[in-house]
Amino acid sequence: MHSFRYRDGQLHCEDVDLARVAEKFGTPRYIYSAGTILDHYRRLDAALAPLDHLICYAVKANSNRAILKLLAEEGAGFDIVSGGELYRVLAAGGDPAKCTFAGVGKSFDEIQYALEKRVYSFNVESEAELEYIDRIADAKNLHAPIALRANPNVDPRTHEYISTGSRENKFGIALDHLAAVYESAAKMPNIDIVGVQMHIGSQITEVAPFADAIKKVAPIVRDLKSKYGIKFFSIGGGLGIVYESSFASGSRDWWNADHETSAKHQLSIQEYVDAILPPLGELKLRILVEPGRLLVGNAGVLLTRVRYIKRTGPKKFAIVDAGMNDLIRPALYHSYHEIIPVRELNNPGHEKIDIVGPVCESGDFFALDREMPEVREGDLLAIMSAGAYGFVMASNYNSRSLPAEALVRGDEFALIRKRQTNKDLISGEIDPQW
Ligand code: LLP
Repeated sequence: MHSFRYRDGQLHCEDVDLARVAEKFGTPRYIYSAGTILDHYRRLDAALAPLDHLICYAVKANSNRAILKLLAEEGAGFDIVSGGELYRVLAAGGDPAKCTFAGVGKSFDEIQYALEKRVYSFNVESEAELEYIDRIADAKNLHAPIALRANPNVDPRTHEYISTGSRENKFGIALDHLAAVYESAAKMPNIDIVGVQMHIGSQITEVAPFADAIKKVAPIVRDLKSKYGIKFFSIGGGLGIVYESSFASGSRDWWNADHETSAKHQLSIQEYVDAILPPLGELKLRILVEPGRLLVGNAGVLLTRVRYIKRTGPKKFAIVDAGMNDLIRPALYHSYHEIIPVRELNNPGHEKIDIVGPVCESGDFFALDREMPEVREGDLLAIMSAGAYGFVMASNYNSRSLPAEALVRGDEFALIRKRQTNKDLISGEIDPQW
């Protein structure tokens, strides 16, 4: 389905004209398409139908309550990594019995909170953490359901910062050590073994790393099932999306879900499911998946306005009102985001330009030497595929307010987060009383 496309010369999100949104409510602003998020969720859910499965949306990708609510209403579970995320999920009407609690450094308070709320499983990453959870559960006279996170040592062939399933990473327990840790877990009085989990990395665009990891871990899962009667196997998230859209190849439509049509090959949901279904089906266990980016990445854009054009020697810069504090992915991972004008240009000249933010760092860029139609002062630009790991990684650096967020559904438009004010910026600060 199309969620962002030109209509009457203006970029629309579903049926909402983005230029009008910017006029009325200002920039920088994240805009998400509810229809796209639901479409992605439903496609994945349908493709996984042959398995007993639960989609646990990785809240870290985009944790706005309105988005969590959309997914909770579809019956989604949630993969959380902090007490704060659990709090959000509950505030959005999510079911704690469908929540898995991941992360290498859970705190006392977080473990206690998740135990009280009866999460589905703690995904445990070390023996030390296991012992800690056992002690806290004992003190509360409760049992903690746990899955150990297996580290299958496969190379997901993605950016080093978002690769998690190889021996060098801090994540999970090596396969040759896993059985021993399960044995210790079985002896802990307040631990209930309920599953096994893995996650090999993010923005993975080939099927082989997923298939390899499942192949390596499946025999262990089978053993664990017969020994401890585990109920589920979570294969994590990590499905990549297309960041370079069909605009790059000259097409006028920006396709969200039909990645097959885009300039770059996209690992489709069907391709992924076809590869993982046979080995998973044989296990006869409940299968959990933890997608984040796949569901929300292409469903959002960051809308920004060009403040100034600056020329330095042969270089041209467009200085926009969004900065690295609003969307840090290009600065942090050198990641590519398509950037398109909100007003369609019929006869676009092409030029090379740097699209940069107002923050005082040279790393504050969205595109370097990018071939673009002519960009002028006052133009509105849409930074595409910003729905995942966009707002959630935003900061107040340079004392810039966090941007606003909005959700579109058909021709309806809802503000789902106010832009911060200057007052908000200092509201938590306290003058020392000495
Ligand atoms: N499960 C676990 C245990 C994870 O650590 C993650 C992501 C996911 C699921 C969801 O992965 P996804 O389906 O979204 O690929 N900030 C980075 C991405 C960090 C991913 C961290 N873990 C970025 O902007 O690319």
